[in-house]
Amino acid sequence: MTATSTGAASTGRTQPFAAPKGIPEYLPADGFVRVRDALVAAADRAGYGHIELPIFEDTGLYARGVGESTDVVSKEMYSFADRGDRSVTLRPEGTAGVVRAVIEHGLDRQGLPVKLRYAGPFFRYERPQAGRYRQLQQVGVEAIGVDDPALDAEVIAVADEGFRSLGLTGYRLELTSLGDAECRPAYRDRLQEFLAGLPLDDATRHRATINPLRVLDDKRPEVRALLADAPLLVDHLSDTSAAHHAAVKRHLDDLGVAYVENPRMVRGLDYYTKTTFEFVHDGLGAQSGIGGGGRYDGLMEILGGQALSGVGFGIGVDRTLLACRAEGIAIDDAPRVDVFCVPLGDEALDRLVVVAAALRRAGVRADVSYGGRGLKGAMKSADRSGARFALVLGERDLEAGTIGVKDLHSGDQESVALDTVVDAVTGRVRG
Ligand code: HAM
Repeated sequence: MTATSTGAASTGRTQPFAAPKGIPEYLPADGFVRVRDALVAAADRAGYGHIELPIFEDTGLYARGVGESTDVVSKEMYSFADRGDRSVTLRPEGTAGVVRAVIEHGLDRQGLPVKLRYAGPFFRYERPQAGRYRQLQQVGVEAIGVDDPALDAEVIAVADEGFRSLGLTGYRLELTSLGDAECRPAYRDRLQEFLAGLPLDDATRHRATINPLRVLDDKRPEVRALLADAPLLVDHLSDTSAAHHAAVKRHLDDLGVAYVENPRMVRGLDYYTKTTFEFVHDGLGAQSGIGGGGRYDGLMEILGGQALSGVGFGIGVDRTLLACRAEGIAIDDAPRVDVFCVPLGDEALDRLVVVAAALRRAGVRADVSYGGRGLKGAMKSADRSGARFALVLGERDLEAGTIGVKDLHSGDQESVALDTVVDAVTGRVRG
């Protein structure tokens, strides 16, 4: 599309652009970074190393890794041909990319488990609504190469700790097991047989043949009523999966992480086996899932690696931020700087620009009032910046070789030698 087709040229005025539909953006006061970093910090404390993944990958990675029959792959991917005519896709999730990277770099040939964390944007062409975006932000972890229920519990506890560290309380952890290659096929047959005997509409009947487990998640009351007696996978687990599930629950009990069992949980991605979980917040309306994850025993092999299992989570940062707001948790009260410099005149500006740079070098956050503003306007900016101290430099100070240091909390003001102000203020900010 050319610029003229927007209609801007015909009015002779440039229309302001808007961010694309369904894509949220976060301003400094929104507290996005604090929420994201709190979630990341919980993963750091458990030894997960940062991996920076590509924003787009070969489309085949997601088709194979996430599953062709999922909504994510069949309807929601941002796929396009690049200039070399290769089909690439903006990453809809992180697990497939992490597993691809582990295989590509041979990380699984070193100590196991490989513990990685990631944070950033993901892309799904969904119908936008409150809490459901086309560019969503996740913090995720993956622990690959060790099939131990204690590791599943660790992953869950790390997510729980991330939420708790923000002060969130209004959420619950839902847990189930999706079994393994031994018990799933038999259960699938059993469920399909059950579904075949129900008066379902054509679309649902079709879904029952492709992915019968997903039918269990139908939200329509009339279908729910029909499904009341459906066989549940948790009642038909193999001995291995049942023991694994019991052990995960025992570890969660030991860790004091509360959960409720939801045997009808259906995740939107196909790779899950055994442990599967979701964190659900009650204050968010329809888009209540603030995080989810589970174990994926076959994914490494599907993507061409060794037969190693993995377990991980993805937390929605957008929704976690909404959950904080819903619970009235004030996220951004952090001041931007410690010191705000107020020059009165050109010569004062020259000096304060250097003072501010020296303060920053000393680790003190400092800002300057630019543009030759008067004392009143500059002091307003100082208040808005959240600074503890304002440094006020006028002509008379310059002559005397001094500078005014105002404590914006107490209102006290004193005069300090200009030559020593960096040390003096640094000491006060630290003290
Ligand atoms: P997921 O459940 O598809 O799992 O996404 C994880 C979280 O991302 C969701 O719980 C939700 O908070 C957030 N989210 C998903 N879609 C949207 C959206 N359209 N708008 C806003 N937030 C959204 C995964 O992506 C898996 N890779 C998680 C995982 C890691 N499993 C194992 N390891």
